[in-house]
Amino acid sequence: MFIDAAGLSPADTYRLLVGSVVPRPIAWVTSGRDPVNLAPFSSFTWVSQHPAMLGFTVNRRANGRKDTVRNIEKLGEFVVNIADETMLSALHASSEWMPPEVGEADRLGLALEQSRVIGVPGLADAPVRMECRYHSTTAFSPTGGEFVVGTVVGWTVRDDVVRLGSTGAAGIDTELLRPIGRLAGPRYTPLGEVVELPPVPGG
Ligand SMILES: Cc1cc2nc3c(=O)[nH]c(=O)nc-3n(C[C@H](O)[C@H](O)[C@H](O)COP(=O)(O)O)c2cc1C
Repeated sequence: MFIDAAGLSPADTYRLLVGSVVPRPIAWVTSGRDPVNLAPFSSFTWVSQHPAMLGFTVNRRANGRKDTVRNIEKLGEFVVNIADETMLSALHASSEWMPPEVGEADRLGLALEQSRVIGVPGLADAPVRMECRYHSTTAFSPTGGEFVVGTVVGWTVRDDVVRLGSTGAAGIDTELLRPIGRLAGPRYTPLGEVVELPPVPGG
């Protein structure tokens, strides 16, 4: 079956996109202060390796922009929290629409922890937190959402998931992290079997 992208509505395009780009990592973003906003975004990747820069797409609501993008542009900072499997229900629940004056973390009983470099806190129980300074917002089309990019200024990694490399540099043990992957719709996947292959020369 070939599907011509030109003839697709925004909803039908989204349907193919979330089925094709799978599984997706999830940026669980804290933004703003008083209250601190919390929401998951799975249109998430890194866009630069050094400096580390992260990006995710924030779609528009029928009545305007989401709190996350407005907060990030206003304060110029945010935290990308990475959840583990034990946090799945809370992560899913945090996507519910709530008015800007309601903080989802408070509402869900999730503890916040002060960041080291920026003023926006992260989630105390998230095994990985990346403090980011806002870089840019790019709108690719009126129906395409806005791609928000930030530069990572500090990592907080829970000690039990840190794996030190041969040089002593910190890395993260994925099997201990137990991250969550997003599929289409309200469907998720835990970490499956990990397959390791020999490195490829020059790869
Ligand atoms: C796992 C998951 C991933 C999501 N990914 C995105 C996304 O990439 N972009 C987006 O605009 N909304 C995404 N959503 C929906 C937002 O989380 C939801 O609209 C949320 O209410 C936005 O919060 P805010 O208005 O406080 O910013 C996702 C929801 C879930 C459950």
